[in-house]
Amino acid sequence: MSAQILDGKAIAAELRESIRLEVDRQVAAGQARPGLAVILVGEDPASQVYVRNKKIACEAAGFNDVSEVLPADTSQEAVLALIDQLNADPKVHGIIVQLPVPKHINPETIIERIDPRKDVDGFHPYNVGRLATRMPIMAPCTPHGVMTLLAKTGIALRGLDAVVVGASNIVGVPQLLELLNERATVTICHSATKNLPEKIAQADLVVVGVGIPEMVKGAWIKPGAIVIDVGINRLEDGRLVGDVEYATAKERASWITPVPGGVGPMTIATLLENTLKAAYSKAD
Ligand code: GUN
Repeated sequence: MSAQILDGKAIAAELRESIRLEVDRQVAAGQARPGLAVILVGEDPASQVYVRNKKIACEAAGFNDVSEVLPADTSQEAVLALIDQLNADPKVHGIIVQLPVPKHINPETIIERIDPRKDVDGFHPYNVGRLATRMPIMAPCTPHGVMTLLAKTGIALRGLDAVVVGASNIVGVPQLLELLNERATVTICHSATKNLPEKIAQADLVVVGVGIPEMVKGAWIKPGAIVIDVGINRLEDGRLVGDVEYATAKERASWITPVPGGVGPMTIATLLENTLKAAYSKAD
């Protein structure tokens, strides 16, 4: 059996179009355009690509893009001062600081300074706490985008055995919470986990976000499982591959995300979705 492909590129394009239409409606009704501030400190090449893509998506959706690129030696105080200014600016509805930040800057201090109502990354402890207590407001974009993809399969998550591989704040931990909130039985694995292949072999759903090329072997996948690959890794020969050995996993899975064109496009579409919510939701 060959898996059905979860086409994140197409699903993200649909979502972005529905967001664009909603912005048009709101603007026609006299509301301001959503404003998103993406702060990039330094010149990390992967971050530069992400930030450029966010900017393009922002403008295509009719948002105001108020991105700021700061030199790598910008002090933490200066970044905090910029966040204070953006927090106070009524034209700015969403603020994100692209991670990783340079070593002299503490990411937790930065994240905690963002007004939780403008925290469209969903990384502020307030928003993580809301998700953990089943009262989400802003949920982290990549795991929430995965939930949107999973909804497209039409498969009920309730009672499924899910394994999340990778326990980062950006992907693994919020993914665990999202799946738990849908009543899946979730196991989270990380670098200290024993017997990873056996754990994956039991899973009806596997979500992998570790940043190691093809770390999860296709032979480990339970026949009929859903496989979500959050990884995107560039090999020395220039090829982009995920964290899952795609060719072999595809022959066992029922559904699988390709790399590229799977989870990646959903992250940006979900960032726009969160910013739309921050701009137009009435809760204060
Ligand atoms: N770096 C990698 N993924 C992300 C993300 O979703 N948000 C931010 N701010 N930085 C990232």
